[in-house]
Formats: sequence, C-alpha cells, structure tokens
Amino acid sequence: MATIAIIGTGYVGLTTGACFSHLGHDVVCADIDEEKVARLRIGEIPIVEKGLDRLVDEGIRSGTLRFVVGAAEASKSAEFHYLCVPTPQGADGAADLSYLEGAAAEIGPVLPDNSVVVNKSTVPVGSTRVVSRVLGRSDAAVVSNPEFLREGTAVADFLQPDRVVIGSRDAEAAIRVASLYARIAAPVMVTDPVSAETIKYASNAFLASKLSFVNAIATLCEAVGADVNDVVLGMGYDSRIGREFLRPGPGWGGSCFPKDTRALANIAKEAGYDFRFLDEVLRVNDDQFDRTAQKVLDAIDPSMVDTHIAALGLTFKAGTDDLRESPAVEILRRVRSAGIRVKAYDPAVVPDDNRLVEMYPDLDIELASDPYAAAEGASMMTILTEWDEFTGLDFDKMAEIMLGKTIVDARNLLEPSIPRRRGFVYRGVGR
Ligand code: UGA
Repeated sequence: MATIAIIGTGYVGLTTGACFSHLGHDVVCADIDEEKVARLRIGEIPIVEKGLDRLVDEGIRSGTLRFVVGAAEASKSAEFHYLCVPTPQGADGAADLSYLEGAAAEIGPVLPDNSVVVNKSTVPVGSTRVVSRVLGRSDAAVVSNPEFLREGTAVADFLQPDRVVIGSRDAEAAIRVASLYARIAAPVMVTDPVSAETIKYASNAFLASKLSFVNAIATLCEAVGADVNDVVLGMGYDSRIGREFLRPGPGWGGSCFPKDTRALANIAKEAGYDFRFLDEVLRVNDDQFDRTAQKVLDAIDPSMVDTHIAALGLTFKAGTDDLRESPAVEILRRVRSAGIRVKAYDPAVVPDDNRLVEMYPDLDIELASDPYAAAEGASMMTILTEWDEFTGLDFDKMAEIMLGKTIVDARNLLEPSIPRRRGFVYRGVGR
C-alpha cells in the first residue's frame, strides 16, 4: 500500500483518488476550494460520474480516502504526488500551465525525500521538465502518467483501462508508479516523458479526427442518398477501423477534445511543424455545428417563426452534467442568433440550475422541467444529446401538443419510423 497525494479534485483527480483508495492505497486529496473539500468530506460529489459516489463513500468509511485544503497539506506525508489540476487553453491557443506550476511550487518545499511527482493533467509536451524545475528538488522524480478517462465512465475507464502509460527516464520511479496499478489487469507501457505526453494528445486528436471524418461522411451520405448508419457498420467490421467512435452527431465537444486538438496544433507549430491536418479537423467540426443549426432553422415552418423550438439535450454528451464546449450549446447559439426562441430540456440541467446562465450569459434560452413542457406549442423539436430517456418519448402526446411536426435528430437516436408513424417529418444525420 502506497501513500498518495492527489492535487486537484476535478473529475480526473477525484476519480484517480477514489480509484487508488479502492485499490488499497492510502489517499489524501487536496483542493483549494474550502467549500468543495467540506462537501467531499461528507461524501457529497460535485459531478455526475457513474459509480464514483460509492467509491468515495467506501474510501471515507474505511479511512483510506481523505480530503484536505491545500496541496502542501496533502503532500507533506505522501510518497506519490499526482498533479490533477486544470490546464485550460490560454489566449494564444497554448495550454495555460499556471495551475500546474502553482501546485508544483507549493509542494516542492514540503515533499518527503525521494518522492515521485506525477503529471496526470494533460500537459504540453516537455512539461515534466517544467514541473521538475519549479519543484526545485533534485531528489524527487517527475513522471508523466496521462489519463484516458471519459466523463461519465471515468471509474470504469480507470479500473479497466486499455493501457497504463508511464513516461519516465528514471526506471526506478517508473517501476514505483507501475506498482500502484498492480491490481489492474492492463498492459503497462513505459516510455520517456515526451513520448507519454505525446501519446495523450495524439490519442485525443486522433479520436477527434475520427469523428470529424465520420461527420464528413455523414454529409456525403446525405448528398448521395446513402445511410451513414449502414456505412459505419460496414466500415467497423474491418478490425483495422474498429466499431467504436463512429457515431455521427452535431459535432464533437467537451472539455478535452477541442482544447487538446487546438493545443496539439499549437505544440506542433512551436516545434516547427505546421500540422494543417488538425486545422481541418477543427474546421470540419465547426462546419458540422453550422450545418446542424441550419437543419434546425430549415425545419421551422415560416408561419411559426414567432414560436419557440424544443431542444432536447444540453450537456456535451449523455451520462454527464458537463456543459463545457457542448455541441448542443453551439447549435443553440446559432439558432438564437437567427432570432428563434428556445425551450430546452436536459435530465442533468434542471430549470433552477444556474450553471448554464453563468457559463453562457448571452445564450438566453428557457429551461423546461420535462421534454413535454419544452415541446408544448413548439415549431419543431431537435435532439442534441443522446440521453437514453429520449428514446422512450410518447410521440402520440408530442403530436398533440406540438405546433410543428418536424424532428431534427442530431444524434440519430430515434428509430425514424416511430415519430413518422405519428405524422412527424424525421431528419437525422447522414440518412
Ligand atoms: C475524451 C476521451 O475520450 C478520453 O479518452 C480522454 O481521457 C478525455 O477526453 C480527456 O482527455 O480527459 P470525454 O471528453 O469525456 O473523453 O468525451 P468522449 O466520450 O470522448 O466524447 C467527446 C465528444 O465526442 C462528445 O461531444 C461526444 O458526444 C462525441 N462523440 C463521441 C460522437 O459524436 N460520436 C462518437 O461516436 C463518440
């Protein structure tokens, strides 16, 4: 059993801390937000993350998971120090390392001898050197151990990962970090820090590229009359392509893909390589937002422009309450610019949830407490996030309460024949 300090309790830090404690380690999680720490101590979790509440509860009860205010407080008696702080995009497109440097500066003076400091945050290539310099401790090893956690399935992704990547020039430190994962059945790959950091960015940018490609294929399918669902199914049988991450949608988003794809383009530029491929991946995604918004606008009968549309889904994907860089918000922003009113429903964003207004003060949409309240009197309906509950909508009722009868299903979530049988015009993506 190792003693581990986790610096930062966002979804990466909290999941990492709770999972390490579940694996039998002694974990102290630190955050600068006193109120958040107070709530975590009583097991109140600030995010929607499947299975996390149970692990946090289990750790608190067994005493292997504690929460403190301040990085130094957590680090002063730990062997491993996981930096899980945000690396937001700075004004110039590069990642802003101020939180990372701040955390390293704070823990440097209190680290016990021969500590291992681990970069878990997604950091620009070369950041282990930055952390090492800021720590100012020649006895401490700095290792890169990137995370590949998806929001909504972060616990499962941590405990059953496809791989564990460790970047270190110090073989002993790499073995010590690998031993933390001893109870996990997954390939552990040890490489140098720069390669580990590149693996993280390249993985996210590759997945984003895959989605831009699929969305472009969906556009092509619409133009030639093919069905994208069948096209990706047929492609996915090829094991070199794989079946996952081939679902077309309104465009991709979230707190990672847009930020990391832009950051990788920036890292390449600084290193002297103009990675234009990634610029195009980002541009195709913007086009997808535009196209989806235009589909929504085209679905509004000109006689109904004064009534609202019903938007189902606001989060960047299902299974999370995260609204950061949400494609749904991108679409609705465009719809609002055309002067159309919006009533939206999302199971993870209740009407008195003021996060939407705080994050997007100019968006100006109304929140409804259920899908029917959003749809009542609406000129059309659009599905923007793939929440399961939307598949069970009562379209007889929808047909009665909606003014217009068109559905733009930007996630290809519904079986088209179901709304069509109730007299709706159904438009999906690429079919
Ligand atoms: C992503 C990566 O998948 C994780 O491996 C990585 O660890 C994480 O970023 C990170 O860097 O921290 P996440 O942002 O939670 O995870 O979201 P994804 O599930 O990857 O979805 C990203 C976007 O792609 C969403 O808008 C989603 O709706 C969209 N998507 C995904 C599709 O449109 N189609 C698909 O088939 C899959």
